[in-house]
Amino acid sequence: MERSLSLELVRVTEAAALSSARWMGLGKKNEADEAATSAMRSEFENVPMDGEVVIGEGEMDEAPMLYIGEKLGRGGPPYVDVAVDPLEGTNIVANGTWNAIAVIAIADKGNLLHAPDMYMEKIAVGPKAVGKIDINAPVADNLKAVAAANGKDIEDLVVATLDRERHQKMIQEIREMGARIRLLPDGDVAGAINSAFPDTGVDILLGSGGAPEGVLAAVALKCLGGEIQGKLLPQNEEEIARCNQMGIHHPAEQTLFMNDLVKGDDAIFAATGVTDGELLRGVRFQGTRATTQSVVMRGKTGTVRFIDGNHRLEKKPRLSAK
Ligand code: FBP
Repeated sequence: MERSLSLELVRVTEAAALSSARWMGLGKKNEADEAATSAMRSEFENVPMDGEVVIGEGEMDEAPMLYIGEKLGRGGPPYVDVAVDPLEGTNIVANGTWNAIAVIAIADKGNLLHAPDMYMEKIAVGPKAVGKIDINAPVADNLKAVAAANGKDIEDLVVATLDRERHQKMIQEIREMGARIRLLPDGDVAGAINSAFPDTGVDILLGSGGAPEGVLAAVALKCLGGEIQGKLLPQNEEEIARCNQMGIHHPAEQTLFMNDLVKGDDAIFAATGVTDGELLRGVRFQGTRATTQSVVMRGKTGTVRFIDGNHRLEKKPRLSAK
């Protein structure tokens, strides 16, 4: 893949962020999501690649999602798999809270996990704790291993997890060990990536969330030298059948390691902040001006770039209208 593709992808996530940020705090998550999706879809038409969405939020009959199987880009080469979430954190934008991002990951064709939109159990850490975690081990073992790897006491460790009823038992266990917890209302892509940036204060992400979010985080963590492990959590026979069709034969039993989630290292991850977060600033509007902050990373070189965008909205009318 050409490295110049990185900047092309940032244009796409910027467009999605600018469009959806207009809906911040207005209590309208579907409108925010639709704005991000249609901006992303039309911006992709200018990107020189032949891509196919292999994991994303939504199947073909669930328009306006960028659906699994949808073709993106103006034509190839390169031929790439795409994982996409035009707006990661629809409720976050509706409520005007933290860590909503517009996000894309691409890798050479055949290199991203093909899976339906379903739940995935996840454990994610930054570079120091690579090789020390095991999704099948008790929570206590993982916390001790990550604390040792990060040179911290358990009491100093920060565990990010989605604030969900299904995590109550795990949260209780973490509290009993004395570790600190950052409960995320939404947004476990940011939660996972933050574990690889010490300044965010997060040491580990634990718990279940969306499978597309797991693959997106895997590409970022591959670029950052971190690690995520996952396990699909089928909720019914239909999801098992969809997994089988996509080549995953025993979804509930299979541990997905980095190379199952994203093979090789020729992958690119791009995200733009929609609302403020630990890693990325959200979109700011002032009259016909807007600013964005994005991060783009390449697995091949491990380069991580933060990009500040200053936008003249009168020159991009389709992105500024609500
Ligand atoms: P949306 O962008 O679809 O709102 O997803 C937000 C999110 O919190 C993800 O970060 C997470 O993976 C998933 O939802 C968790 O799903 P659920 O809200 O069903 O627990």
